Amino acid sequence: MQKPILILGACGQIGTELTFELRAKYGSENVIASDIREGSEVLMNSGPFELLDATNYEAIEDVVMHYEIDEVFLMAAMLSATAEKFPMRAWNLNMNSLFNVLNLAKERKINKVFWPSSIAVFGPNTPKKNTPQNTIMEPSTVYGISKQAGERWCEYYFKKFGVDVRSVRYPGLISWKTMPGGGTTDYAVEIYHEALKSGKYQCFLDKDTKLPMMFMDDAITATMSLMESKPEKLSVRSSYNLGSMSFTPKEMAKSIQKNIPDFKITYAPDFRQQIADSWPSSIDDSAAAHDWNWKPKFDLETTTKEMLGNLKQAL
Ligand SMILES: NC(=O)c1ccc[n+]([C@@H]2O[C@H](COP(=O)([O-])OP(=O)(O)OC[C@H]3O[C@@H](n4cnc5c(N)ncnc54)[C@H](O)[C@@H]3O)[C@@H](O)[C@H]2O)c1
Repeated sequence: MQKPILILGACGQIGTELTFELRAKYGSENVIASDIREGSEVLMNSGPFELLDATNYEAIEDVVMHYEIDEVFLMAAMLSATAEKFPMRAWNLNMNSLFNVLNLAKERKINKVFWPSSIAVFGPNTPKKNTPQNTIMEPSTVYGISKQAGERWCEYYFKKFGVDVRSVRYPGLISWKTMPGGGTTDYAVEIYHEALKSGKYQCFLDKDTKLPMMFMDDAITATMSLMESKPEKLSVRSSYNLGSMSFTPKEMAKSIQKNIPDFKITYAPDFRQQIADSWPSSIDDSAAAHDWNWKPKFDLETTTKEMLGNLKQAL
């Protein structure tokens, strides 16, 4: 019998799709979605939902006890671009929510934790191409600092207290069901919406800024595969590098122009350019491939087809 799962931050870009997929696989009643706000109508109607603040330990504990929760997916966080504007709020949310969940697992009130890290753990001194699993990190953003600290705490809780915590460093994620929530790679979603609505897009990153990206279906597959893996297979308890494709805004525009020939892109880099410049351009994810058979399915062309095809119907 499937033991109940709790998702914190379920109404965001990743949480929404993760909730749908977990419900499809394990049954709607076994997946409790929660967030500090209500989500889309489809999400709210798809199964149990709790209004829950991920920084409130007692409130999470109540829900965990009530539903006899076994696994928690912690998706609540403040993302890179927003965190630069509200550094202390970002630190408090990103760290306190993680400690709450790690401590619930330490006290054996839950058995397994998923917590996402990010390519933002890397910084200007990190080797940019094919960035290794273990390398110089030195993140230069508030968000990256919180993710790197989070990774260290995950590994510490695993080693010291035997907490079964699992994590991946997501690259920029591209999805059509939910809009992104204030990250530096948001352009790679906005561009498809604008291509269909107005036929033009002003990009906040420069044309040659190459970043690691991933289509949402691959990110959800990776998350679920890692959580289903046997614990003895996992050699990384900080966070796994996770790669898929890398491209620049100019390359993305070209891929859209193959489908919408009149699409026009202009460039007006803002404060997010500096964040993007500090991140890798591609990722070595051989540890994930070795330990739990990670292999992405989508490239830029198939992502563009999925995005334009699905958004055309949804918009
Ligand atoms: N989307 C990406 O490209 C990407 C890349 C790397 C890592 N990540 C990580 O994945 C996780 C999910 O990201 P996302 O893109 O879905 O973010 P998002 O901003 O779209 O969603 C976050 C959700 O958390 C909720 N939330 C905020 N404060 C909360 C609180 N106190 N209690 C409960 N919920 C709260 C928000 O309402 C929102 O629904 C984050 O940890 C993020 O750092 C995302």
